[in-house]
Amino acid sequence: MFTLTNVPANGVVAIAVGLNFARETYMPHHILCNPLSFHISPTKKGVGKHVTSRIKAGLSFASMFISGEREAVFLKDSALELYSVGSVQLRVIEKDKGQGMRWKDRKKLPFLSVPYAGIDDRSNSIMEELLYWFWLLFLSLLVLVLVLKVVGLLWWRPKRIEEHFSKQGIKGPPYRFFIGNVKELVGLMLKASSQPMPLSHNILPRVLSFYHHWKKIYGATFLVWFGPTARLTVSDPDLIREIFSSLKSEFYEKNESHPLVRQLEGDGLLSLKGEKWAHHRKIITPTFHMENLKLLIPLMGKSVVEMLDKWSEMADSGEVEMEVSDRFQTLTEDIITRTAFGSSYEDGKAIFRLQAQQMVLAAEAFRKVFIPGYRFFPTKKNRNSWKLEKEIKKSLVKLIYRRKQNSCDEMLDGYPKDLLGIMIRAGGSKEIPRGLNSQSSSSTITVDDIIEECKSFFFAGKQTTANLMTWTTVLLAMHPQWQELAREEVLRVCGARDIPTKDDVAKLKTLSMILHESLRLYPPAIATIRRAKADVELGSYMIPRGTELLIPILAVHHDPVLWGHDATEFNPARFSEGVARAAKHPMAYIPFGLGARTCIGQNLAILQAKLAIAIILQRFSFRLAPSYRHAPTVLMLLYPQYGAPITFRRLSDPITPQDHGS
Ligand code: HEM
Repeated sequence: MFTLTNVPANGVVAIAVGLNFARETYMPHHILCNPLSFHISPTKKGVGKHVTSRIKAGLSFASMFISGEREAVFLKDSALELYSVGSVQLRVIEKDKGQGMRWKDRKKLPFLSVPYAGIDDRSNSIMEELLYWFWLLFLSLLVLVLVLKVVGLLWWRPKRIEEHFSKQGIKGPPYRFFIGNVKELVGLMLKASSQPMPLSHNILPRVLSFYHHWKKIYGATFLVWFGPTARLTVSDPDLIREIFSSLKSEFYEKNESHPLVRQLEGDGLLSLKGEKWAHHRKIITPTFHMENLKLLIPLMGKSVVEMLDKWSEMADSGEVEMEVSDRFQTLTEDIITRTAFGSSYEDGKAIFRLQAQQMVLAAEAFRKVFIPGYRFFPTKKNRNSWKLEKEIKKSLVKLIYRRKQNSCDEMLDGYPKDLLGIMIRAGGSKEIPRGLNSQSSSSTITVDDIIEECKSFFFAGKQTTANLMTWTTVLLAMHPQWQELAREEVLRVCGARDIPTKDDVAKLKTLSMILHESLRLYPPAIATIRRAKADVELGSYMIPRGTELLIPILAVHHDPVLWGHDATEFNPARFSEGVARAAKHPMAYIPFGLGARTCIGQNLAILQAKLAIAIILQRFSFRLAPSYRHAPTVLMLLYPQYGAPITFRRLSDPITPQDHGS
């Protein structure tokens, strides 16, 4: 402690501790805090107050570096006590002189240097001081650790992984801090999609431009950085089989979707994991067995015929131009509604309509810059989305209640006819409140689960199947000889007007081949991703935990090594001996994924597409509209960037049902 007594009346004392710190003026009744490392306790005779200035660490940083000095003005006979952990310098300025003096001149006055006075009897103050330093040290360490962690995650780890793969002969575009290869990647994609392409099926350079570009430089298995996340491209069918095989699949998991995509796809089968996924998958699988789906054929056919009747009415002079990708979405929505809700079709449709509105809101948000947690803000759009969610839930609860009341009418041979029935039965209880329980254990299916599964089917089944129908129609429009072959088959098997029956559908071999070739050349899901849950061996490679494996389905489907020199040509005949024999490797054809998490709705998708295309072939011939521009592109799924306008010509002289079979 240093005590300065008998400071000249109304004198000005300039104090600097260690280096010069902030400059403030002491007033008799008020003392401002000096930022850093000392206390000032001026005592004033006559005023009789003991004022203590305390140091507030939090406030100090900004002013710490401001050069200057602290001044204190003292009344007659005041005393100044200083407690400091550093050396203290003082200079005393006569008040009268001092006030008239310019700062610059005051600074010329000599300092009175006072050494550190050590810990005094004011141990509390010193303790506080120490505590303050301790906190400062702790905070600095914390910041240091955080900085090191961030640098580790965003720089050292990626560099280490890069080196790890490089040693195994796997290269790729160099990692850049934080953004990885995203900048080049987006640049390549934007360039590729800036113009339509010629009428060719060699779409890989346009759709997966980054893969096409870097594969030429680094080979088919390369490392690419999506931000600080490493993705290894795996297009070798043997390795793909290994990833999805039951022996190894426990080492890999689906990666988490973007939160907005998650909102769209729901917490259903698509994104569930572990026990809950296994339980739901087991319960839902029977709905999609071919035997069950076949029961839907008359209803599906009805939806298609209704759509085509409208087209026919619109075809004055026998022709009509249609943008088919939108029309097919309406159709697939209708069919999924029937699969999910059966006899409660109208209620189901209303629910899906609400879900579609929700998807529009989420899709809008997806196109904007993503701000974590923004969806919880009560913005107008978010409030709308919450309202929709509430309405959906209310409608479903009502529907489930009604279904439970009439459960017997909804059964076929004692088994529920549709997805909703199956899930209600899996829920088990007769009591509706149980369904309202949103804490789903893994062994029950709650109303919340049902809502999420509905979202999942709607998301996974609507656009994928509509895209399959769209590309198949485009392909048949581009290849009239195959259109003719397919039509001949349909007319031979089903006649010109009859809705194909389940037996007919099984006989449409050419159409099946065409659909497979369409899924090969234009797979709606162009890629899938798995994440290594642990360090794992894949073929001869060591894959570190956390690495994502990108399986470029489209690239596998277009690989000439697997499919021959005509890999990018439309040749459905390659499937004439079945899917397994179409390529040189049985894993070369994977439009629906592979293994335990393969698409649950694939039978439904093929059935819908077969039925829709067959009925179109019965009624119309078609070609690309003059405005068609070939531009397959990807936004989650493969879709035509400028739509798919097709000119349909009504077929005159349809063969009557009586002619059929003669
Ligand atoms: C042409 C149409 C379709 C294509 C190309 C397709 C493609 C796929 C693919 C590739 C996967 C696996 C994803 C992965 O492993 O990461 C998948 C999963 C799934 N698909 Fe499809 N899909 C189609 C139609 C449908 C339909 C109509 C439904 C249902 C109504 C559906 C429901 C699902 C579900 C629920 C999953 C997740 C299965 C699970 O993880 O257990 N899909 N689909």
